[in-house]
Amino acid sequence: DSFSTPYEVIGADLLSQLVDSFYGKVENHHLLAPIFPNDLTETARKQKQFLTQYLGGPSLYTEEHGHPMLRARHLPFPITPARAEAWLSCMKEAMKEVGLEDEVKEFLLHRLTLTAHHMVNTPDEEN
Ligand code: HEM
Repeated sequence: DSFSTPYEVIGADLLSQLVDSFYGKVENHHLLAPIFPNDLTETARKQKQFLTQYLGGPSLYTEEHGHPMLRARHLPFPITPARAEAWLSCMKEAMKEVGLEDEVKEFLLHRLTLTAHHMVNTPDEEN
């Protein structure tokens, strides 16, 4: 085919590095660490599957876990606006760290910003 997906532009290898770098920051973030499991191995594995399909690659997440229903899967956790910004800032740092190329970085960051804001389910003052 003549077109390539963002997944193909980034490549499985760099996507995997991105997710590992991201969770390395999450586990050290004072707002995020308390709501995540101590061991992020399985979380990172699912996130690699999810981002693969989110970026137009094979539907790895859905094949193993069913429909993502991301907002519903996040409801057990208090996602405040401050936590959404923290999540996005960890992602921005990870993108810089692994050297994601500018065009695909802006594209992915834009989409993740919309998705992150959609996950918010708790006001800041409650948490
Ligand atoms: C799972 C937090 C945004 C994708 C989780 C979990 C937490 C969490 C606590 C559970 C981890 C576990 O038990 O393994 C947050 C916070 C966000 C956020 C604070 C800030 C807005 C996002 C966004 C995406 C995303 C933007 C999509 C790119 C996922 C996926 C899982 C997950 C795929 C695994 C779901 C599963 O268990 O199958 N998140 N998340 N999250 N998150 Fe987020």
